[in-house]
Amino acid sequence: MSRLPIIVVPHPILKEIAKPIETITDAIKQQAADMIETMYDAPGIGLAANQVGKLNRIFVMDTNYRKNDESRDAKVLINPEIVWRSEEMSVMEEGCLSIPQQFAEVERPRTVRVKYIDLSGQVQEMEGSDLVSHCLQHELDHLNGVLFIDYLSRLKRNMILRKVDKMMKDSPVL
Ligand code: NI
Repeated sequence: MSRLPIIVVPHPILKEIAKPIETITDAIKQQAADMIETMYDAPGIGLAANQVGKLNRIFVMDTNYRKNDESRDAKVLINPEIVWRSEEMSVMEEGCLSIPQQFAEVERPRTVRVKYIDLSGQVQEMEGSDLVSHCLQHELDHLNGVLFIDYLSRLKRNMILRKVDKMMKDSPVL
């Protein structure tokens, strides 16, 4: 496994729509393993393909992950689709590895059910609420070129983008 560089705003690949995966090849399995390692190393609880420069529909997540915790249970979701969302909404503070050190409250459906394909090619469904729901929707958004800052006012979004820009200039991540 190897750690991949994480792409940061305003890179245009973060605004692109990723393409469905047709066959789960060894290259896809390797990509998933690399994405899991990259996510844990960051550390983060979710990472989508666009963020590591790939435009295919795959993301990894482990919402139980805490730094220095040995128990890891990363899920790999291929071609994920939301098949049901609750009417009840939830507001949570979100961050993103592609928008380093910036956080904002985002409102999303409190519970979603997502259909996806796992690494063995089986169709699976996962239902989650609160943090899991926010994470599922945040990562799926990435595959559609949407970032959590897109839900904020233009003023707030530009403020965050300027802060990241300044931070990258002051201390570039190499
Ligand atoms: Ni993100």
